[in-house]
Amino acid sequence: MRMVDIIRKKRAGEEMTAEEIRFVIEGVVSGAIPDYQTAAWAMAVCFNGMTDSETADLTLAMAHSGDVVDLSAIRGVKVDKHSTGGVGDKTTLILAPMVAACGVPVAKMSGRGLGHTGGTIDKLESIPGFRTELAREEFFSQVNEIGASVIGQSGNIAPADKKLYALRDVTGTVESIPLIASSVMSKKIAAGADAILLDVKFGSGAFMKTAEDAIILAKAMVAIGTEVGRTTVAAITDMDQPLGRLIGNALEVREAIEILRGEGPADLRELCLKLGSHMLVLGGRAANEEEARGKLEAAIASGAALDKLAQMIASQGGDPAIARQPELLPQADERIPVLSASDGFVHGIDAEEIGLAAMRIGAGRAAKEDRIDYAVGVELVAKRGDRVRKGDTLAILHARRDDEAARSSAEQIVAAYELGGEAPAANPLIYAIVSKEGVQS
Ligand code: URA
Repeated sequence: MRMVDIIRKKRAGEEMTAEEIRFVIEGVVSGAIPDYQTAAWAMAVCFNGMTDSETADLTLAMAHSGDVVDLSAIRGVKVDKHSTGGVGDKTTLILAPMVAACGVPVAKMSGRGLGHTGGTIDKLESIPGFRTELAREEFFSQVNEIGASVIGQSGNIAPADKKLYALRDVTGTVESIPLIASSVMSKKIAAGADAILLDVKFGSGAFMKTAEDAIILAKAMVAIGTEVGRTTVAAITDMDQPLGRLIGNALEVREAIEILRGEGPADLRELCLKLGSHMLVLGGRAANEEEARGKLEAAIASGAALDKLAQMIASQGGDPAIARQPELLPQADERIPVLSASDGFVHGIDAEEIGLAAMRIGAGRAAKEDRIDYAVGVELVAKRGDRVRKGDTLAILHARRDDEAARSSAEQIVAAYELGGEAPAANPLIYAIVSKEGVQS
């Protein structure tokens, strides 16, 4: 078999066999196929797409390119959750303790942030002492004992995806539905959970710009999960503005604690209750969404969800007092208000630009090896639907003293706000739910 023939075949829009797909993936991992051929193949896939069976074969080949985690040592139905990437998305920090408090075990591997999106592992590491690298036995026993653990993704989960994704990132081949679907699902399948809840974002801060495209991507992922016997449900959610009000690592932990206390912004709380409800149903702890929501609200009201976060922090080496005293988290030296340059209603806040503005002052990495500053970030004061006047505070930068980047970051934030003369129509936060039964609006 020769890679050049497979590239030609895909360029002509023909269907690849499972054997050809395995050949590509094995060659990517071993290095036998050079990057320029892999990139040419990925571009051919971008233009010509893949059939369902090609997408399923690619997913399985990537899932089995490294370790496939066996979670059977953990009791109960393990439910994983994955977001296709957003700004201010701290839902894992809330959902893991909240659903664990309701009896669904969460054994989750998460990633770090790169570019404009944050990563759960960086957020957790903003808690002093918090360990995100646990030996597998310690990870399993923590989940059996307290119900939840979130750790960094082990080095050998879907290595084919790691290589392919890095190449796609620099060759303009990320935005392909079969490539995204197989990338996400290969990691989820290798991570071993019994059921998977996907949060597929659409809007300015997401790969999918429209709800329609997000539904196509969700359907592809649900079909793959169903095919391999993992119940998979996808929520299609709005990313036309960052989620919640706080963006930045320690700031996001603070906001997660607010939600677990029964406070915090309504959009984030609502999304967590909706996603959490699906996790409880998938995990067999509630018969339907309504019952699940009642249990989650009770876990927040009783303090059980916040206690669970404290237990997770203690078990992973941090100070559990942080769960009740978030002021113990790292804090920036300066609060710099960002003022509106005109009057109007907020119609949207470009999430990617806000993520980049936070990265500029140190909250994220431009390159993989960059160090991040856990304390800094952006606090959004005005959100979609709010009316602002010239000179009102749109946002507050939490920055280091005398950081020269703060000025350009503030300009970027002002430009990210889209203002209009009239109040915008209300946007549903969750646009649809996709499951093997179909699409439910
Ligand atoms: N997230 C992934 O894990 N893979 C993609 O291809 C895009 C988003």
